[in-house]
Amino acid sequence: MTVTASGTPAAPGERGLPHWEAAPDDLPAAIREIKAALRARIEASGRTVGEVFGVIEARVRAQVEEIAADKARGATVWPVIDYADIEAGTVSAQDVAALHRRGCLIVRGHFDHDQALGWDQEMLDYVEGNQFFESYRGPADDFFASVGSRPEIYPIYWSPPQMQARQSERMASVQAFLNAQWTSESDGVQWFDPARDSLYPDRIRRRPAGTNSGGLGPHLDPGTLDLWMTQAYQRAFRHLFDGTVEQYDPWDAAHRTGGPQYEGTTMCSAFRTFQGWTALSDMDHDQGVLHTVPIPEAMGFLMLRPLLDDVPDDDMCGVTVNQTFPASARWHPLLLEALSGIPDVRAGDSVWWHCDTIHSVAPVTDQRGWGNVMYIPAAPWCPRNERYAASVREAFLTGSSPADFPAEHYERSWPDRFGPDRLNDIGRRGLGLG
Ligand SMILES: [Fe+2]
Repeated sequence: MTVTASGTPAAPGERGLPHWEAAPDDLPAAIREIKAALRARIEASGRTVGEVFGVIEARVRAQVEEIAADKARGATVWPVIDYADIEAGTVSAQDVAALHRRGCLIVRGHFDHDQALGWDQEMLDYVEGNQFFESYRGPADDFFASVGSRPEIYPIYWSPPQMQARQSERMASVQAFLNAQWTSESDGVQWFDPARDSLYPDRIRRRPAGTNSGGLGPHLDPGTLDLWMTQAYQRAFRHLFDGTVEQYDPWDAAHRTGGPQYEGTTMCSAFRTFQGWTALSDMDHDQGVLHTVPIPEAMGFLMLRPLLDDVPDDDMCGVTVNQTFPASARWHPLLLEALSGIPDVRAGDSVWWHCDTIHSVAPVTDQRGWGNVMYIPAAPWCPRNERYAASVREAFLTGSSPADFPAEHYERSWPDRFGPDRLNDIGRRGLGLG
């Protein structure tokens, strides 16, 4: 399948919006300029900024209330689907609707429980056998470094269990199911190939029993100021700014899979339909687990909120380059009301959330049991991911840390990392070798 994106001509109403394809030098000036231009664009449509924001706010508020009602009657907010139903194609229309509405999902029994526990042990043997703890130089990641000084996030990418999971049929079928929730083709353009993943390599987390952790505050990962300031994102979010806010669809991939992202320590070069991880230990819902604001439309709220009058002209509600995009009690209290944690999960279950959703990790004191996961998202083949795949191939072949991550390269000399001779068809296609 040929995937093409980018190069579509500007729509008539699109002219005049300033854009910066790399982070501007004078951020406050650029913020003032883009905010004025976006307000003018909205007002040119005959609507006010307040009215347009009100449309999104009402949609979001209805969901916040529904989620509060679900919690009050003890219902699980996160949709749960059995892997067997995904594999057999027997997921009910009701479950698909819940996934679409909430933008997050638990896949029960994605992998066999014993297999996941075996992978966890194998990973530990892999790092121990290669003297990782003796050679560990401390956290090199600005963001996760705030968690603590112990290696909780291991900068390990190429262990046999990680690669086995990434190139497994089971992972491919879940990724294809999740990708299919998006509109991947419109205006005669195939924005991504829902049936082919690009094997975005990420790390593992191993959090031992007894851990005290402050968690991670609510934030989102798809970008920072580039979400308002680059031409591709201005097109992706066009309905928010051109008077057609009712047509804003968080599942529309149009213009999202080709453009650049501003450089920075928190950047992700890939387009991910969903972020995800696979549990390698059993975890209870109250042991410092992942939370999301399970409302995909909240992205529209986050994008429009800085344009209201109460936000200083040079402020995007705290969003700036080189830091994750925060959701805050000051600017987004309505959204944070809906923060919802995952239910209990078992080793082998996987956890997924739409790439634009706000997420956080709850604090924990004296954690019960392990909290071990491997991060494997759904990052379908598209121009942006194809470009990044070239550097992933190089990192894979040399055992290096991938380009999106700190250049730590622990595994270069590890003899038992996963080698090219063990790639199957899914793995070769995902790396662009097939
Ligand atoms: Fe994140």
